[in-house]
Amino acid sequence: MKPRYERPVIVRHQVGSISKFGSRPSIRVYDKFEGVPIADLVSAYGSPLILFSERLLRERMRELRDQMATRIPRFTIGWSYKTNYLGAVCRVLHQEGAWAEVVSGLEMQMALRLGMPGHQILFNGPAKTDAELEMAFTKGAHVQMDHMDEVALVEKVAERMGIRPKVGIRVNMTELPTQSWDRFGFNLENGSALEAARRIVRRGVLEIDTLHIHVGTFVQDADAYRLAAKGIANLAKQLRDESNVSIDTIDMGGGFASRNTLQSQYLPGEQATPSFSQYVEKIAAGLDEAYGGAEWPRIVLETGRAIVDDSGILVASVVGNKRLTDGRRAVIIDAGVNLLPTAWWYRHDVFPAQDVHGTAEPTVFVGPLCMNIDVVRDRILFPALKAGDRVVVGRIGAYNVTQWMQFITARPNVVMVGLDGNHAIIRRAETVETLVQQEEMPAWL
Ligand SMILES: Cc1ncc(COP(=O)(O)O)c(C=O)c1O
Repeated sequence: MKPRYERPVIVRHQVGSISKFGSRPSIRVYDKFEGVPIADLVSAYGSPLILFSERLLRERMRELRDQMATRIPRFTIGWSYKTNYLGAVCRVLHQEGAWAEVVSGLEMQMALRLGMPGHQILFNGPAKTDAELEMAFTKGAHVQMDHMDEVALVEKVAERMGIRPKVGIRVNMTELPTQSWDRFGFNLENGSALEAARRIVRRGVLEIDTLHIHVGTFVQDADAYRLAAKGIANLAKQLRDESNVSIDTIDMGGGFASRNTLQSQYLPGEQATPSFSQYVEKIAAGLDEAYGGAEWPRIVLETGRAIVDDSGILVASVVGNKRLTDGRRAVIIDAGVNLLPTAWWYRHDVFPAQDVHGTAEPTVFVGPLCMNIDVVRDRILFPALKAGDRVVVGRIGAYNVTQWMQFITARPNVVMVGLDGNHAIIRRAETVETLVQQEEMPAWL
């Protein structure tokens, strides 16, 4: 076969394999997903296509469970629904023993639909309604309160229902090596958390058994978890000593970083992200500092992205190439930031899904939206691609299939590849009917 013509390009020579940006990525052809040829999956389900691996979901959940089991005597992992609430994904994680962590009535209904018993549902979030609280208490879910008006509402609902439910309060901390999430919960350092707990105890309508903190998201300094665990545990001890309150559960929230790379980050996530064992070790160290040899409360984790990010990929097809005025090559693909909002935070890995030839040169991948913001990956060294070629965007399992937006194009099929290489649609592609079925046409039009 006659070799394809390659236009000559000048690319800066890089000596050695490591720089301040970590090891230089080599170009890997990603032509199979869990052993199934990507070309076959695209033929069966179309392009673009979102794929999830059942194996990777189970493995990451088991890894976290195993690490917790080595250091924490009593623990529960709650699956953070907002991170990915596709039913099939949640079911796999529930089969691995995860409870459901929800932040709205809608998410609670999703968990109930999947057969989760109420007592395995943790209900967080800053805007719970009267009706949602009644549903939560009727089902026996654990409610974790965010602010004083919510405490008053929860008390009202409990009194109306004639119950004295066990509840939690969310606490935030500012003295942590991470951006403060002080808009959620009651602050520890300024005494608001203690004051809220005292008020609830005084009123006697509710019984506090849980203290909750979610220090932030994509927390790369694992020591934040030692400080948070210690701070919350000390609050629990203070409540026990002064009011005889028995805190049975400390919920450490989520926030472990995934192995993606932030836009602002030098080192690739694979090199910079702490392991599950490092995070767990820090939580245990904080509890140890507060409790020593005394019995620790049950610890809950609500880890989201660190479990599910690795299990998902996006497959897209090349629509065309062009040269930008600054010399970079732009490759237009058929999937944009409407499907991949995490492209705004992460430098996602992009791989060719078939053999490639020629010199890698700085490339920007842009999507099909007629909007300048539609950049899936800026500045990645990539060899030439032609229309019809396929690329894989890696580690897209978290927050995309929940935060994606209906904009300009319809959302594609989402498929799970099972343990035996079997595969099936877990969310059907939308069509124009999907979009218009919610619309009404006023009679006068
Ligand atoms: C209360 C709570 N728990 C858990 C999570 C999951 O966080 P992550 O995906 O960073 O682990 C979030 C996300 O913001 C949250 O708000």
